[in-house]
Amino acid sequence: MQRDLLGLRQLEAKDMELILDTAEACKQLFNRPVRKVPTLRGKVVVNLFYEPSTRTRTSFEMAGKWLSADVVNITVAASSVVKGESLKDTARTVQALGADMVVIRHQASGVPHLLARTVDAAIINAGDGTNEHPTQGLLDIFTIRQHLGQVAGKRVLIVGDILHSRVARSNIWGLTKLGAAVMVCGPPTLIPVGLEKLGVTVVENLDEVLPLADVVNVLRIQLERQKAGMFPTLREYTRRWGITGERLALMRPDALLMHPGPANLGVEISEEATLDRRSVIREQVTNGVAVRMAVLYLLSGGERHELAD
Ligand code: CP
Repeated sequence: MQRDLLGLRQLEAKDMELILDTAEACKQLFNRPVRKVPTLRGKVVVNLFYEPSTRTRTSFEMAGKWLSADVVNITVAASSVVKGESLKDTARTVQALGADMVVIRHQASGVPHLLARTVDAAIINAGDGTNEHPTQGLLDIFTIRQHLGQVAGKRVLIVGDILHSRVARSNIWGLTKLGAAVMVCGPPTLIPVGLEKLGVTVVENLDEVLPLADVVNVLRIQLERQKAGMFPTLREYTRRWGITGERLALMRPDALLMHPGPANLGVEISEEATLDRRSVIREQVTNGVAVRMAVLYLLSGGERHELAD
């Protein structure tokens, strides 16, 4: 395993498999009356989030606590960042306070890579700008593997705002390395030029491709990262690319419906769709804890995919 988890672009398929196998072992703990194991006792995990988060920050906190690490959350809005402290200085301060691992989310692409060159603590990317969100990619792949047995050979359709989506990028790197066929569909203005070079098929007509997909992963429209005019209106977006009740009828009965959350309900996905029996959206959230436990365990030096009691 590498020292840091910066992205799935950098991760070999065998290391992804190791994380997924270890996450299976972590998920077994969820059925126990007491979920806590002493594996990371004495280790310090710092959550340093410069952007809002519910799922990622909370699940890293739960993952660290269930492994008995000391988990510290830094609320950037209440930190010395507001007094002008630089990112590097904050990271060095966190290191001086004894952090073994720093989980960082930042609005700028590349920040986790910069920190990995700056401090000795292991750096885990919890989402950097439009670049990557590797633990989201891993938990999506983990969820697919749990339901469909394997990822290789499966047809995964990613729908929506690909251009601004770090989730899409991590899914594309991870899924293609593990042998899935990845298709993307969305407004042409929100499909990056040259995406085909990553081994992805860009499809124009959502209704034609929905019946072919084993997995439909719907992305949030990132209104906070949009320039005006990327698509006509939200209503038009829903009409052409939204997963509505009518589009549910086009999906295979055994397909999986995914969304990384948070969702713009009624825009890229209807509430009805999130509650459909093919939806695994809640399970993605639960699996996020197992995957993040596996990442913390392996980056702290654990080698086997079985956790000590
Ligand atoms: N999927 C995801 O990253 O959600 P949060 O922003 O709530 O962490």
